[in-house]
Amino acid sequence: MALSQLYLSFILLVLSYKAISTSDHHTNGLKSLHFSLFQHETINKTGFIIVNGVAGPGISQTTTPFGTLFAFQDPLTLTPNLNSKVVGTAEGTSVTSGLDGLQSISIAKITLNVKRHKGSISVVGGTHNIKPSDHPVVGGTEDFLFVQGYVTSSPVNLTGLTVTYRIEFHLFWPPYSNFR
Ligand SMILES: *[C@@H]1O[C@H](CO)[C@@H](O)[C@H](O)[C@H]1NC(C)=O
Ligand SMILES: *[C@@H]1O[C@H](CO)[C@@H](O)[C@H](O)[C@H]1NC(C)=O
Repeated sequence: MALSQLYLSFILLVLSYKAISTSDHHTNGLKSLHFSLFQHETINKTGFIIVNGVAGPGISQTTTPFGTLFAFQDPLTLTPNLNSKVVGTAEGTSVTSGLDGLQSISIAKITLNVKRHKGSISVVGGTHNIKPSDHPVVGGTEDFLFVQGYVTSSPVNLTGLTVTYRIEFHLFWPPYSNFR
């Protein structure tokens, strides 16, 4: 083993030890956090169609025409009940990208204050209106700086003016996030 490799192994060892000793959510020396929240979207109140789409099925409970630009700022609560404690906000946009009217590309900034962690994560990915969708986490701010992982969005209730999704968070901090 070359000296530089030895040195690198030592640094990694020190890093993983540091990660273990500074927080309580760890697996294999890496910090992670797993939890679920509920996103509530009320049409024309927290979510709006900004630009109408051009083709495919029309607007229904689950479809929007191809090219529809949608913007939202939705509360995230602890339980499926809209009146339960709000611990976050999801703000972003989606564009209907499936000619079936069921799929879109979404980008969102999710601001959180949960489990003694405050800050935001940013996610991007494809969303299916009636099936669970995984969105990769592309980064974060404050306590979520450098965070990686994914969120899974699953429809809970799509009837009525307010639709509800369960958002499962699977967040992982890389070793270098300790260097802030
Ligand atoms: C939302 O607002 C748009 C534009 O004003 C309107 O056409 C649509 O019917 C509204 N939808 C609901 C469910 O209120
Ligand atoms: C879904 O939401 C509608 C409208 O708020 C409500 O009437 C219905 O009971 C809800 N369904 C479930 C399964 O919670």
